[in-house]
Amino acid sequence: MPPQDFLTQLDQLAQAGQAAFNQAADAAAIEAARVEFLGAKSGRLKAVQKGLGAVPAADKPAAGKRFNEVKVLLESALAAGQERLAAGSTAQSNEPFDPTLPGGRQYEKSRYPIELGHLHPLTQTIEELKDIMGRLGFTVADGPEVEDEWHNFEALNIPKSHPARDPLENFYLATAGAGHAGTMLLRSQTSTVQIRVMEKQKPPVRIISLGRVYRPDDADATHYPMFHQIEGLLIDRNVTMADLKSVLRLFAASFLGHDVHIRFRPSFFPFTEPSVEVDMAWETVGGKTRYVEMGGAGMVDPNVLSAVGYDPEEVTGFAFGLGVERICARRHGVADIREFYRNDLRFLSQF
Ligand code: DAH
Repeated sequence: MPPQDFLTQLDQLAQAGQAAFNQAADAAAIEAARVEFLGAKSGRLKAVQKGLGAVPAADKPAAGKRFNEVKVLLESALAAGQERLAAGSTAQSNEPFDPTLPGGRQYEKSRYPIELGHLHPLTQTIEELKDIMGRLGFTVADGPEVEDEWHNFEALNIPKSHPARDPLENFYLATAGAGHAGTMLLRSQTSTVQIRVMEKQKPPVRIISLGRVYRPDDADATHYPMFHQIEGLLIDRNVTMADLKSVLRLFAASFLGHDVHIRFRPSFFPFTEPSVEVDMAWETVGGKTRYVEMGGAGMVDPNVLSAVGYDPEEVTGFAFGLGVERICARRHGVADIREFYRNDLRFLSQF
């Protein structure tokens, strides 16, 4: 046989065998391809090998060398195919991945459904809360997460001696040359943004602020050392506690539904007077309703208004600060807010 014919047969075999090993969709298919191409008795490589005897002696060394190369090639294609199937993948690895193709094309080619990502449930909640409050006329304000003591405490009527400023309750930062003015901390509340807005803007004010706050709490079903708050502030003439309650009830009904009861309990915050704690009905077991705290609220303390240069005789206002994780958990029936930070796709893909 002319050596050229032998080499052509080998090349065709190499191509067909590699394609078969690469495309085999399961273990049975790859085993069938192995027997067909590399079978010891009647495999196609064996059949081609028989032609080697008919190659002229002078061409035999080159033909033999090529034969061995093709054998190694096929054996490694087989091994790669077996490995691919063992890894649980059915992707057709001989198909080059073309990132410029539209998604639908890849879908047809790969037989994989395309998984669309989406926003994290907390981000979805934040966007919806902004929407709801936006419809009530509140615009969004922002403030830094690394704060000074003036905005986190002092201007909010929380004096140096107050237990809320305890180093065990806060993440103080070891800033260089931390003196009185230089001490910084990760903000423990978004109430800081109230001060930042009022320092820059004359009344009336109608803002919300959403963001992260930090406290050295142990994580449990309702606590996490970093969480999100929604802060609200409304300053104008003749603002009353009734306005605060209506806004919070509207807010809660819009996000949680009309059937979720909200209650207000008298409380104390240095920056509001009077102050309330806001609870939401969490669950009712055996006729008894258990409430979980959403956050705090109240009428802005005159000392706070004075600290930012407002005249407490002229204007009044209300403020509130609520925990976003808890609100989101209540909406979706999540029993443990730590789920929001585990990043388990089985959990996240439900939202
Ligand atoms: N900043 C408070 C906290 O984190 C919550 C709060 C209470 C915010 C009353 C307010 C408020 O704006 O008026 O515990």
